[in-house]
Amino acid sequence: MNADLRSGSIGFVGAGALGSTLARAMQHAGHHLTSVASRTTTSAERLASSIDGCEAVTVQDVADRCGVVFLTVPDSAILDVASATQWRSGQVVIHCSGASPLSILDSANRGGALIGAFHPLQTFGGSDGSPNIMRDIAYAVEAESPLREELETLANDLGGWPIALAAEDRILYHASAIAACGLLATLVKLSADLWSDFGQGSDAGLRSLLPLVRSTLDGIERRGFPEVLTGPMVRGDVATMQSHINALAARAPAFQPIYR
Ligand SMILES: NC(=O)c1ccc[n+]([C@@H]2O[C@H](COP(=O)([O-])OP(=O)(O)OC[C@H]3O[C@@H](n4cnc5c(N)ncnc54)[C@H](OP(=O)(O)O)[C@@H]3O)[C@@H](O)[C@H]2O)c1
Repeated sequence: MNADLRSGSIGFVGAGALGSTLARAMQHAGHHLTSVASRTTTSAERLASSIDGCEAVTVQDVADRCGVVFLTVPDSAILDVASATQWRSGQVVIHCSGASPLSILDSANRGGALIGAFHPLQTFGGSDGSPNIMRDIAYAVEAESPLREELETLANDLGGWPIALAAEDRILYHASAIAACGLLATLVKLSADLWSDFGQGSDAGLRSLLPLVRSTLDGIERRGFPEVLTGPMVRGDVATMQSHINALAARAPAFQPIYR
């Protein structure tokens, strides 16, 4: 059994948004990345060429060559990739999905591999691939000891901090992440779209609202709740709140239930 992430050679299957960034960040943190595979050779070669000593190979080659394999494919592909690959005893196989259960890697486990989940609580859609995006973030870790401790150390190596996640808490944890990221983005978009209802256009709305959003996030970090809250709700200005609701009912009814 080799759960030592520092001494083993590491491979990635999936050279997309997360895989590319995590692989580079791990190399940067002193881990030994040797092999990468992806659905297309173009993606695999792009990532491999950015890491010294790393080669683009097939998925099975990654499994054959590496002691530690990260499956950074879309959630919907993890089960198929894990099932279609031959694993060996003592190997480590890790997925990085926030919502998928660890049991999605059962086929690797049956092949003798140690399995784990390592989820960076970050969004990588617009990432330029810089390892800095992996710093100062939480990493949700689910694995049995000693792999769990290894993954916790990896979180620290990357400049973040680990949180231990129980299997039964995974979906609630992920719902919170999606709410903080996706719901927030949707709320900002809907708020910006309101500007079209008074003739300014949502682009102008977004540009004008973003400084307010940024200072609110900054206030959450520096002052926390409830101190960050300002405005008529905190002042108890019921008349102003009611005037908002009335205006929304008349001119932007779809937004009214959200505002309420
Ligand atoms: N993006 C995020 O913000 C984020 C954050 C935290 C966790 N995650 C997790 O990270 C994992 C990857 O997400 P992602 O956003 O990086 O996805 P992504 O950008 O779509 O990248 C997925 C990569 O997997 C490759 N791939 C797809 N099917 C494959 C297969 N059958 N065999 C081999 N390679 C395959 C794709 O190959 P080609 O490029 O060659 O087509 C692509 O490079 C998911 O589990 C996700 O939940 C993502």
